[in-house]
Amino acid sequence: MDYFLYQIGILHAEDVAIPEIAAQVGTPFYLYSAATLRRHFRLFDEALEGMDHLVCYAMKANSNQAVLKLMADMGAGMDVVSGGEYARAKAAGVPGERIVFSGVGKTRQEMHMALSGGIRQFNVESEPEMIALNEVALSLDMVAPITIRVNPDVDAKTHAKIATGKSENKFGIPISRASTVYAQAAAMKGLDVIGIDVHIGSQLTQLEPYRAAYEKVADLTKQLRAEGHNIRRLDLGGGLGIPYERSNDAPPLPMEYGQMVKEVLGDLDCEIEIEPGRLIAGNAGILVAEVIYVKQGEDRQFLIVDAAMNDLIRPAMYEAHHDILPVVEAEAGMEQSPYDIVGPVCESGDTFAKQRNLTPQQAGDLVAFRSAGAYGAVMASEYNSRPMIPEVLVDGHQFAVIRPRPTLEDMINRDTIPEWL
Ligand code: LLP
Repeated sequence: MDYFLYQIGILHAEDVAIPEIAAQVGTPFYLYSAATLRRHFRLFDEALEGMDHLVCYAMKANSNQAVLKLMADMGAGMDVVSGGEYARAKAAGVPGERIVFSGVGKTRQEMHMALSGGIRQFNVESEPEMIALNEVALSLDMVAPITIRVNPDVDAKTHAKIATGKSENKFGIPISRASTVYAQAAAMKGLDVIGIDVHIGSQLTQLEPYRAAYEKVADLTKQLRAEGHNIRRLDLGGGLGIPYERSNDAPPLPMEYGQMVKEVLGDLDCEIEIEPGRLIAGNAGILVAEVIYVKQGEDRQFLIVDAAMNDLIRPAMYEAHHDILPVVEAEAGMEQSPYDIVGPVCESGDTFAKQRNLTPQQAGDLVAFRSAGAYGAVMASEYNSRPMIPEVLVDGHQFAVIRPRPTLEDMINRDTIPEWL
């Protein structure tokens, strides 16, 4: 459930009418609902009630400082994957002991930064990384808390580009080698091996792949304990999917996910961490755009809007579906007709939807792309020299620009021309 609803025919974000924001901010822009972000965080927190747990928001989904601050204020931990994300989390007020560092390619510089700034744990993904981290920790006269990410060889049944738990994927160490790698880690003086990490993919719409992976983690916990390791924390990753199409079967709810976690891992007496990103931010955000032209093609109508693939890459990159709604509802009885909804960028991949039924649209009308709060703004670029679009946060009756639109000068002046040119 989110808080983007029609009130007397006009789409609102919480209590604010979207045309009002568009008039002040200009289009296109991202718009987030604070109430939805809070609600989604609570759903996970409540789903794990009764277990010692921490919900570490995967901030790669949406790392705006205002979103991070809102999460931090609710007690969220953060899952970070770069020095940049670590710095953002700290800047938003997240204490180091609530920051988990994931990722296959952490550099020594990033390790140094997180160790000296404070870190809950590193999720180590390979033997060379383990060796590097041990060296960095020793050079600082510190001990780095780690889990080791295992690759359980489970098919997450999601889009190939976001599946991470099969043996051919670059993530984690093969679970079959875990015993050897844990023994090596335990022998390193700069590392404290505290647990196991697993993350099998994103936009998962079934619980079975999770259950299969977590059963392997439960077995491994017992085995590693028998081998003398004090396994006391399990990081279960993120990945729970969201309903992108309202008409489709909804993915499992956080409560159902939490129930399964309790069933499979509840009796191990481990602290549980999860790293949800999309489910927290995805349906807490929309992208608002304006129709520039309605163009009649040979056999179809094109709706040319002022947002493009550089602003929201997901349809071009993953063939992703985003529901598209008129901001002002058509009068009752208006027939829908199919449109190809496209942006102004000079490639045919700049298509948000093909043959999507909408009520009649005209230049100047506003449309909203739903489910754009996760992996939207964070994946944007300035391709075609289109400045990054602003982000706006609504909270009840109030709204604020949380990242302004840069001017063309801002964009141009970031480049420098060498004096010898
Ligand atoms: N933990 C780890 C280690 C991850 O790699 C990810 C996502 C998450 C947690 C959060 O997963 P989530 O709960 O958001 O599904 N750009 C793609 C999604 C990439 C996900 C990458 N890793 C998209 O737009 O669909």
